[in-house]
Amino acid sequence: MTLEPNTFMNTMVDRVDFTAADKALLKANADWGLAIATEMADHFYSYLGRDSEMSTILNESEGRIHRLRETFVQWFHEMFTGMDDWQFNYATRRWRIGLVHVQIGIGPQHVVPAMAVVVQAVGRKLKAEGKTTDLQEALGKICMIDLAFIEQAYVEVSSSAVLKETGWTEKLFKRLVSTGANSMS
Ligand code: HEM
Repeated sequence: MTLEPNTFMNTMVDRVDFTAADKALLKANADWGLAIATEMADHFYSYLGRDSEMSTILNESEGRIHRLRETFVQWFHEMFTGMDDWQFNYATRRWRIGLVHVQIGIGPQHVVPAMAVVVQAVGRKLKAEGKTTDLQEALGKICMIDLAFIEQAYVEVSSSAVLKETGWTEKLFKRLVSTGANSMS
């Protein structure tokens, strides 16, 4: 159950139909993306700060919030530049971001609404600055790919940990998960 970031990236690119035209549009707007990144970071961290659980995590260690603002700006800009045309380096970086969140114990319930805040804030900005809906769609797609990486990391890490600890096969594990879901519904 070990995820290969590049393969996962290609699957997601196909799944959300992230096209060459989307990539070209993002690249053409990369300077604009960098210019608005700090404002987007403000929205993002004020949202996280309003939630007591997430605010505690953010302020847990000295300098964390400061570091995070910088990494957010970088992350946001990379969605526009694609790093290496959204290939190996991009996928590996996104996978690592997922793993960092799993290590800290940040689950889907935190990450999904946080990404929605980014999508909404950037949507409002695009509208205010007269940008096209095509750019909005391209950004929406890459945000969803990035989100999938963070969510999938959670599943992959939890399942590999269980498999390693118990020695169960993947098949048995999947059967137990289905049985568990059946008994809960
Ligand atoms: C849209 C969703 C999110 C994105 C794109 C994002 C982005 C990032 C990035 C790029 C990093 C740096 C990873 C690295 O060091 O390689 C990071 C780390 C981190 N994120 Fe997020 N994040 C998201 C959601 C959240 C949420 C919901 C929280 C909840 C509090 C959070 C808290 C943290 C923390 C505590 C770190 C580690 C900071 C440190 O001590 O270095 N993130 N995030």
